[in-house]
Formats: sequence, structure tokens, C-alpha cells
Amino acid sequence: SDSYVVIGNPIGHSQSPFIHHQFAQQLSHDIEYSKLLAPTNSFKASVEDFVKKGGRGANVTIPFKEQALEICQVLSEEARAAGAVNTITVSKDGTLKGDNTDGYGLVTDLRLNFGTLQDKRVLILGAGGATRGCLLPLLKEEVRAIVVANRTESKAVAIVNEFNHKKLFSSNFDDLAKEPEFDVIINATAASLNNDIPAIPSEVIHVDIHCYDMVYGSKPTAFLEWCRAKGANKVVDGLGMLVHQAAKSYEIWRNKKPNASDVLLKLRSKLR
Ligand code: ATR
Repeated sequence: SDSYVVIGNPIGHSQSPFIHHQFAQQLSHDIEYSKLLAPTNSFKASVEDFVKKGGRGANVTIPFKEQALEICQVLSEEARAAGAVNTITVSKDGTLKGDNTDGYGLVTDLRLNFGTLQDKRVLILGAGGATRGCLLPLLKEEVRAIVVANRTESKAVAIVNEFNHKKLFSSNFDDLAKEPEFDVIINATAASLNNDIPAIPSEVIHVDIHCYDMVYGSKPTAFLEWCRAKGANKVVDGLGMLVHQAAKSYEIWRNKKPNASDVLLKLRSKLR
């Protein structure tokens, strides 16, 4: 059977094996999918070893997505824009192709939960890899504008300058109070991982704003609880993004589109 892995450090809590085994079951594919803990200083060797053993594809997670970009001989447009690879495909001759499906996962989950992004004003918090990974797919949705706001404003400015797109703007947190209303707010900071909340002005939140946190857990993140407390009706965590990015990886590897919504329901009840 074809063999796949998710490579990261740490990797213990990864839900990817569960998700991909569900996809394989749906489609009656015979695959193996396991977790691979790579030492932080030998990611490349870990991938090479996996390829030598006949591995067909790998998902890459923290902290290796940028290193994964370096070792791939072929890159998709999304991977190039993201500066990071979350999906490696091993071709017949051993060449590595790098993709990034995180943005697809985000945009798909946003659309399913909140409707079209067309003409929407989108606020994205954070200016790290999570934001960078999603900007190109978000811009392709024909949004009205995207504001990247970061605690350290210079990083937001840098990322916006790099993408150089007429609909993309940067901000610090305080100035957000003076912005016209946003339709969607996406938390792409690492704050939720520490049960923390980005210190944005509460004026940003209103009844109709759609709030999304890329982080997920067994209960709503501190950020989503805060949005609700400030009056937002619609809050969604990042579990759907995880499942949809996985579905896209699966499709890249095996040319068949799994039913992500089914697996999302199962994963949600597994985490409860
Ligand atoms: P990743 O690659 O996963 O996005 P990163 O590059 O370390 O991780 O970026 C983390 C992001 O979360 C940064 O934008 C960081 O803000 P700073 O640039 O100001 O450090 C943001 N971040 C982390 N903790 C935060 C917190 N408690 N409040 C607000 N922003 C936070």
C-alpha cells in the first residue's frame, strides 16, 4: 500500500493520520499514513529516509514548512507565495514537488461557514507564517480589501510590501479602532496557542462580523470567546481549515476528492 506521513516536531497531537485514514476509507484506498517526528536539525535527512523507503507523500507541519520549501525541486504558485510547503509529493523519479494547501483550507472553510468572500473587508491578525500562507488564496477570492494587523507593526508592513497588491494594507492594533467595519476577522496569531488574545480594540467587533480562529481545540479559543463577549454572533475555529487542507493534499496525491465535511463532523466529536 502507498505510504504517507506527517512530519513535525512535536507531532504527538497531530490529527492528520485520523483524517487521511478516514479519506482512504471513504474512497476504498489502501494507504498507510503515520506520524514522523523529525529532529529539528535533520528535517531533510528524515524526508530523504522516508523517500528511500518508498514514501509517496508527506504533510509538513511546525516547524518545518519553510525548510520543506528549500528541499523541493518543484513548487506550486501557492507554495512560492506562502514561502512554505505543507504538502510534499514524491514523483516516480524521486523528485519532490511542494504545495501549500493551508490557504485553500482556510478559504474553503470561510466560504462554507460565512458565504462568499467577494467584496468583503477582511482583517487578518498576525504577520507570521500562518498569515503569509493564506494571503494569495484570500486575494484570489476578489475581496474588497485585506488589512494585515500585527502587534509588531513593522512585520505587517513588510509582508504587505512583499505581496504588493492594491487590495492589501497593513496596520498596528490600535489604529484598527478607526477603520471602517470589517466583515471578517481572522486570527492568525500564535496567541491562541498560549490561551492569549491579541490586544485589538473592541470597536472592531460588531454583531455581524464573522470571526475565525486558525487554532482549534476541544472548546472555543480565548479569542473566539472574546469576540462573542463583544457581541459577535458568528465564531468558527480552525478545525475545518485543518480538514480541508488535508482533503486538498489527499487530492493532490491521489487524484480523488474526499468528502471533507463528513470527516470534519467525526473529528469534532472525537475532540469533544
Ligand atoms: P507562525 O509562523 O506560526 O505564524 P510566527 O512567525 O512566530 O508564527 O508568528 C506569530 C505571530 O503571532 C506574530 O504575528 C506574532 O506577533 P509579533 O510579530 O508581534 O510577535 C503573533 N503573536 C504571538 N503571540 C501574540 C499575542 N499574545 N498577541 C498578539 N500577537 C501575538
